[in-house]
Amino acid sequence: MKCKFSISFVLNFFLLTALLPKYVFAQGEIISIETKNHALVLNVTGKKDLNTIYLGKKLANKEEYAAISSAYKQTEDYTEILNSAYTPSGSRNLVEPAITATHADGNNSLDLRYIKHEIKTLKPGVSLTKIYLKDPVYPFEVSLFYKTYFNEDVVEQWTEISHKEKGLVTLHKYASANLHIKRNDFWLRQFYGDWAKEMQAEESKITHGIKTLDSKLGTRANLFQPPVFMVSFNKPATETEGEVLFGSLQWSGNFRTDLELDHQDNLRIISGINNFASPYALKANEVFTTPVFMYTFSAEGKGLASRNLHNWAREYKLLDGNGERLTLLNNWEATYFDFDEKILKDLLKSTKKLGVDLFLLDDGWFANKYPRNGDVAGLGDWQENKKKLPNGISSLVTEATANGVKFGIWIEPEMVNPKSELYEKNPDWVIKQPQREEHYFRNQLVLDLSNPKVQDFVFGVVDGLFTKNPELAYIKWDCNAVIYNAHSAYLKNQSHLYIEYVRGLYKVLEKIRTKYPKVPIMLCSGGGGRVDYAALQYFTEFWPSDNTDPLERIFIQWENSYFYPAISSANHVTDWGKQPIKFRTDVAMMGKLGFDIVIDHLKENDLKFAQQSVKNYDAVKHIIWKGDQYRLSHPKKDDVAAMLFVSKDKASALLCNYLVNNRYGAGSKFPVKLEGLDPNKKYKLTETNLYPETKSATDESKVYSGDFLMKVGFNPQVNKDRASVILKIEAQ
Ligand code: GLA
Repeated sequence: MKCKFSISFVLNFFLLTALLPKYVFAQGEIISIETKNHALVLNVTGKKDLNTIYLGKKLANKEEYAAISSAYKQTEDYTEILNSAYTPSGSRNLVEPAITATHADGNNSLDLRYIKHEIKTLKPGVSLTKIYLKDPVYPFEVSLFYKTYFNEDVVEQWTEISHKEKGLVTLHKYASANLHIKRNDFWLRQFYGDWAKEMQAEESKITHGIKTLDSKLGTRANLFQPPVFMVSFNKPATETEGEVLFGSLQWSGNFRTDLELDHQDNLRIISGINNFASPYALKANEVFTTPVFMYTFSAEGKGLASRNLHNWAREYKLLDGNGERLTLLNNWEATYFDFDEKILKDLLKSTKKLGVDLFLLDDGWFANKYPRNGDVAGLGDWQENKKKLPNGISSLVTEATANGVKFGIWIEPEMVNPKSELYEKNPDWVIKQPQREEHYFRNQLVLDLSNPKVQDFVFGVVDGLFTKNPELAYIKWDCNAVIYNAHSAYLKNQSHLYIEYVRGLYKVLEKIRTKYPKVPIMLCSGGGGRVDYAALQYFTEFWPSDNTDPLERIFIQWENSYFYPAISSANHVTDWGKQPIKFRTDVAMMGKLGFDIVIDHLKENDLKFAQQSVKNYDAVKHIIWKGDQYRLSHPKKDDVAAMLFVSKDKASALLCNYLVNNRYGAGSKFPVKLEGLDPNKKYKLTETNLYPETKSATDESKVYSGDFLMKVGFNPQVNKDRASVILKIEAQ
């Protein structure tokens, strides 16, 4: 019988089909993970690979997601899993994996195929999609979780890894999320810093290869780099325009986010615990749950993304996010370690005189054998220093109550000075290499929170304070040291230390919150060295930086404001910086107001101003804490920084303006265009926080429509003589 096709035809056919790019059409099941405005769309392929086909604006018709892949004419994906929703390694993959493992038999390969998925509504507006993946060869399973917050456009992702192999499986990498995004270009906005220099922003175009944002510091993990980042798609997003994704890992330890621009120009974002020095030995049936990676996507610029995050944080994450906060007077910069009962009792009177809610006693109140008179000794010995406080904390709490103010206290329970009784008695509670020279960070070592006895000790520090002083109203929880010489005398497997430390910390915080659910606690880490949304579930606020020079603070608070709502940012008026008290106070008002100055040293008018500013703040604080935040003009770009807070009902707003440049008569030459108001409402603008005996330059008799204020704007008349201007905007 004659063959229908010649040999050369058949050869040519195969050659051609092999050389032509295989255009991928989505076949098989589509899983769309949607919020109000955006969608992450996954596709189960014929081979049961789970791949990402879309991340962007949601389509009106779900049916059309299946057609997305055919719109891309990129080169061939040889592996068929370049867009894997969770990239395994050691089988077909050729790029950065999300997970790598060595099986119990020593084999290094992993493949993950789709088994099934389920979707649950957890509460109105919150759903959970769970996708089951399994290795076809090994009894090794991975489940991917996608928790969506519909109204806030926020997605939380995490992973559960488990196996039923005979022996231990070593996980070398275990990411929380693996995003895959197709756009023309990508721009990364990232942050770096150091002590007193947190949240320094830089933006660059992402080039091919891998850009890693990470921390290897263990505790105080964000000292050099926080986990938050933004990626703009196609072009750098502005406040009001452009596609942008804000992301962050919720983990108070070592993190790692890889941003890989692959050979096809797609962006792969893989984020999780940093696997640095941390291969994890997983027992059969043990479930390794990764921390949560969170992201929000906005197609209308950074402003909307940040407001969505704020709404989400207040509603679901930040402890008591919709609650109240206390204004306070702190004694750290007023006294440092140099105080006694008499000085503190005078400061309690100052607290009342100033009109704030609470007095916060900072470092230096404890330790007897090695008194805490400086940062070289005493840390770990949490008994009142008898010389400074012969009548204990309780007499101060009583005195505070008598003055009509509340009392709060500073602790740093995770760390120890080698010069302390705690270290003498429990040298094995400390993280250090047994045979190496100790190396200190601020004269401290870190306690080994992987050890349950240490966990009990740390819990006991807090519990002891509350048991003895039930009226204690506030805690500032500090964490100054990083982990050097990572070694635990308790753990058998040293490569688990960085992970077990954080797990231990969360166990302690969980226990504290079970017993003391709402008491306000400030998250401090020598400034903003540990700010993340896992920690903020246990804390009501954080300390962004020890740098309180108001000019620097404008920048630090500004960058933080993209990710964290104003209610969570503790801002204090101090003597850093040479600016007048009005400027310092106006800057601190951009979040949760506090003071750390000697009230009795204030000149008459400065004192009057400070007292009045507390009252003014009380009148507007709910707009700042609970309203929508708009960044109107930028300190990095403009002479005047302008931040607006608008109440949810659009009836009131607060416009905060700050001069950030003093060259060539810098000032507000142009009106500041407002946002978020009701165009049909009429608004009156009045200046608040005026310094005594000064007059406002604002004509307060005028009324403007929201339409006018948003299209033309308002000039706050900021100049060197009016370096900060705070305007109350009220609907008539
Ligand atoms: C850290 C904090 C400061 C202060 C000191 C006390 O540096 O960031 O605010 O509490 O510790 O030692």
